[in-house]
Order: sequence, then structure tokens, then C-alpha cells
Amino acid sequence: MGEKMGSLRRTTMCGLLRPENIGEEVVLMGWVQKERNLGSIIFVDLRDTTGISQVVFDNTISEDIFLKAEKVRSEYVLAVRGRVRTRQSVNKDIPTGEVEVLAEELKILDESETPPIYIKDDDNVSESMRLKYRYLDLRKSKMQSNLKLRAKTAKVVRDFFYENDFVEVETPMLTKPTPEGARDYLVPSRVNPGQFYALPQSPQLMKQLLMVSGMDRYYQIVKCFRDEDLRANRQPEFTQIDVEMSFVDVDDVINMNEKLLYKLFKEIRGVEIELPIRRMTYKEAMEKYGVDKPDLRFGFEFKDISDLVKDCDFKVFTNALENGGAVKGINVKGYGDKFTRKDISSLEEYSKTYGAKGLAWIKITDEGVTSPIAKFFSDEKFKDVLERFEANMGDLILIVADKLSVVCDSLGNLRNEVARRLDLLSNDDFKLVWITEFPLFEYDEEENRYVAKHHPFTHPMDEDIHLLETSPEVVRAKAYDIVINGDEMGGGSIRINNSELQARMFKALGFSEEEAKEKFGFLMDAFRYGTPPHGGIAYGLDRLIMLFTESTNIRDVIAFPKTQSATCLMTDAPTIVSNKQLEEVHIKVE
Ligand code: AMO
Ligand code: AMP
Repeated sequence: MGEKMGSLRRTTMCGLLRPENIGEEVVLMGWVQKERNLGSIIFVDLRDTTGISQVVFDNTISEDIFLKAEKVRSEYVLAVRGRVRTRQSVNKDIPTGEVEVLAEELKILDESETPPIYIKDDDNVSESMRLKYRYLDLRKSKMQSNLKLRAKTAKVVRDFFYENDFVEVETPMLTKPTPEGARDYLVPSRVNPGQFYALPQSPQLMKQLLMVSGMDRYYQIVKCFRDEDLRANRQPEFTQIDVEMSFVDVDDVINMNEKLLYKLFKEIRGVEIELPIRRMTYKEAMEKYGVDKPDLRFGFEFKDISDLVKDCDFKVFTNALENGGAVKGINVKGYGDKFTRKDISSLEEYSKTYGAKGLAWIKITDEGVTSPIAKFFSDEKFKDVLERFEANMGDLILIVADKLSVVCDSLGNLRNEVARRLDLLSNDDFKLVWITEFPLFEYDEEENRYVAKHHPFTHPMDEDIHLLETSPEVVRAKAYDIVINGDEMGGGSIRINNSELQARMFKALGFSEEEAKEKFGFLMDAFRYGTPPHGGIAYGLDRLIMLFTESTNIRDVIAFPKTQSATCLMTDAPTIVSNKQLEEVHIKVE
């Protein structure tokens, strides 16, 4: 059993002691990071949320305390009263490294079993152990600083929106399905047998209704739930900074959000981002980078050589073109010598994981041009190809021929992979870009119909509205994403604010009138009573924190995250529930 604190109270924190505190009496409380017993002297590194201080127990000064200190082990919780003095062997690695505390009183507030993981940032323990013992994992200084930075970010966001007359409104968690393209998490209703709530995929409909209500400017830092395949930057429950504004068009939303982004980067990273943020249409992004979230920290833009190779002797290229595909490539400018043939083979394997059937390449060295495809070209045509890529000595050109979607996907990902291998991705370099003019629809091959690319409430671009029925595939949307260093940090749109246009949209999406009414009747009804033009955006807060903390794993910025299979290893959720509970909610499990 641990001792009581009694009248002892903490006077300062472990990470705060400095030479100017020498001579002061202090009381520290915290966990034992490590202890070293040198026979007549014991050193204990005591840790709290601010850092570590060295505490010394000296046998020659107090034998009682020394004997007690001998029992101390890692992760015991201690209260220590003592005097700050100069440390003999200075530790330059920690801010408190010039001083130590000579203990005059020790209380062991609690003992600890040997912890299953080390409380050390660069501990190599498996992630499942970290998640199972999350409360121990969160003792690590990196995890603590991530969560503190997250809290600070939320504060900066709230300050910004408060200063700009936005109202934070809480929207319900037990609600109707919101279409954001993922599966819903359902909650059975006990009082209404056979009926279910959905946890919100986003507060999309509620925030639009708040605009109908005349709330004018809304924001919320809010949990969203999506049952979808998880990746490194996705969680089944995640947090959005959700925003909506009335009487706005695209530029108004973007301008307001640029001010928020400026403040965030300044206050969180100390970086002044350049305003206005660059804008790029979806079309340009796809043509130059093959993806709608291009990483602009490096070049290697796509070049289309379809026109130059259509008559060449390489069947792979001509077949791809005859089947309506494309031949595109990138010039890894100046880095040719960094890739051996073996490296290029491994790039080819990489591109194949994204559906490419092969990777053609051209390398220009001082010994001349090497390429497995040169033989299929006349000298003149090959020269044209090299010119298209602005090829020079030291360059490496990588080419994919396939249907356009495969070219974009494989070459777009290859472009990022090449930059990763070349170490071109600095964490202090922030390249922001708005991607605009997204297509309103995308074709869902599985469902054999058009689905909304953003969501069904997104306003088409005014000049394209007349094409809604005749050529839906070319209609562009008043939708925008904010992309930072190749990641989609947020997305939004101007919304449809009239029931007639909304009805046309539902029709284009293949909803019958009844279906539309059943799903979104309340929204359509609301639109009949005076709806302001409105639009907004939502950021993935977790992704922003990943960017700010330079984390590659979304779980490192969430206190209690889920695994890739949407489970919580610490609490063991989800779990089987009792038959009684199931009966109450009218559910039978096979
Ligand atoms: P969207 O679906 O683009 O838009 O979501 C907005 C942002 O939320 C983040 N995000 C996620 N983060 C972690 N895990 C997930 N599973 C996950 N899914 C999305 C992304 C994304 O950019 N209602 C609209 C916004 C609007 O139109 O105003 C919406 O939810 O960073
Ligand atoms: P081959 O003559 O079959 O050895 O192919 C010559 C080169 O073309 C090899 O480097 C292949 O990787 C490459 N290649 C094969 N299929 C494709 C494709 N669809 N797009 C680009 N290059 C390809």
C-alpha cells in the first residue's frame, strides 16, 4: 500500500528546475524513470508531464530515507522533498541537466509492477503492445507533447472562430445517416423496435440546417464516425474542424480559411505561410500529378507523350493508346545516378502494386542514353520524346502506358515514392494548395451509376448547371480541398440552396423522389422556407496534428485510437453483449 501525501504538496514540476533554483527547497511528485544504486548513493530520475529531474538519496545524510529509496523501482510514484543543488556530472541532453535535488523526505505514493513496455520514445515495442497498454504508452514524452499540441491547436481554432463571429454549436451523435460515402455505424433503438440511429459521418446536414436557421457562421470541433477501410491516416472515429458560413461563394470560404491556416501555422509551427494559397484545378492536378492531392514539395511533373509514340513499334504503347489509354512519364531530373538498374526494377515492382503492367525508362548518362524501349523508336522520334521531357545529362525518365486511371494512379504514387527514396520530403517545408473545380460526379463501377464526388449537397459550377441532365460527367462542382504536402487536410463546397436544384441533383444521382424524400426530406422541407446561399469546409483535425507533429501514424496523435481492424486493444471493444441486452434492443445475432 502506498503512503499518503499527508501535508506534502508539489511546489514545482520535474522539468522546470534550473540553476537559478539552486538552494531552494522543492517538493516534486512523479514517476520513477530509472534508478541507479551506487551503494552509498542512489540516483532516481523522477518524471512528470514536464520532464525529468535527478533526485539523489545519500546514505551519509539520512539512512532512513536511503533505506526506503532502495525499494524504489521503475514507475513507482514518489513525492520527494529536498534541496536543489548543482549537479556534478552535467547532462546536456535535458533542460534540468545542470541541477539535482538532494532528498530530505521521500514518500512512496504507489508502487508499480514491472511495466510491460518501456516508457521511452524510441522504444521498439510492437504497436499492439503500445495500444494494449495505452495508459503507459501515453506516459512517453512524445505522446504527451502530441496531445498537448493537439489541445493547443483546438484552442487556436476556437480563438480564431470566436474572433470571427462563428458560433460553436453541438450537433447530435444519434442521428440519421449522413451521406459521406462510407458505411454508417448504427445504434439500435430500444424504444423503437427495429429502428436504428446512425452515428454521424459528419454534421453536414445539421450545419446546413443551422444556416437555414440564420445562425450565419457555425463551427464545431466534432467527432465523426465512418465504417470504412482503414489506412495510415484514417480512423473509424476521427475529429473534424467543421465550418459553415452563410451568404458566401467559393472565394469567401477560401479567404476566411486562409486566415485560419495562417494563424495555425504561425502559432503552432512558427511558420508564416504565403497568402493567398496557390490554387489548382482538379484537371490540372490530374494532368500534372495524376492525383487530386499533389505533393508540391518537389517537381517531376507528368508529361504526356501519347502523341509522340502513337506510331512507334512498341506494341505496349500503341495498344494502350488504341484502347483509349495514355502514355505518360516523369523526369526524375538530375537524380538518374541515384537509381541503379536494380533500383529501377524495384520502382517497377512498386508501380505494379498500383496496377501498372510495367515501367519503361530512359537514363541519360555521360556514356549515352540507355533504355529498353529505344529500339522501338526512330532516332528522330526518340529525340522528340527526350525533348518533351526536357531531358538532360543525369536524368531518369519513367514511363507508364495504360488506361488513364492506371497511368495516373501508378505514376502519381511512383512520383511520391521516388521523392521518398531521394529524401526530398522535408517536414519543415509546407506546400499548401487548394484543389478546385472538382467533378460533381464520379462513376461508381460497382453500382453502375453516378455518385456524388463530394456529397449530394454540393453546388454545381454555375456555368455547368445546364449540363446536369445531358452530360453529368463534365459538370464541375463548387468544391475545394486543401492539400498540404500531398495529404488532403480538408474539403468543402458551396451548397445547393434551392429545392428545385437539389431535386435535379438527387435525380442525377439516381434517387427516386420517394428515396430522396425518405432520406433527406427534412432538408428539402427546410429549403422551402428561405435558405441563404451557404457553404463550408471540414478539416481532419487528426491529420493536421499529424502534420504539425511530423507523425506518420494517425494513432500517434489520438489518445485512445483504434487498430486497423477498428478494435480497441485496451478495452477490448467491440465485444459480445449479453442476450438480455440484445433482446432489449430487439436484435437477434445468428
Ligand atoms: P470530407 O469527407 O472530405 O468532408 O471530410 C473532411 C476531412 O476529414 C478528414 N477525414 C478523416 N480523417 C481521419 N479519418 C477518417 N476516416 C477521415 N475521413 C475524413 C479528411 C477530410 O478532408 N461534410 C464534408 C465537409 C464539407 O463539405 O463541409 C466532409 O465531411 O482530412
Ligand atoms: P519488354 O520489351 O517486354 O522487356 O518491355 C520493355 C520495357 O517496357 C520494360 O522496361 C517494361 O517494364 C516496360 N513496360 C512493359 N509494359 C509497360 C507499360 N504498360 N507501360 C510502360 N512500360 C511498360
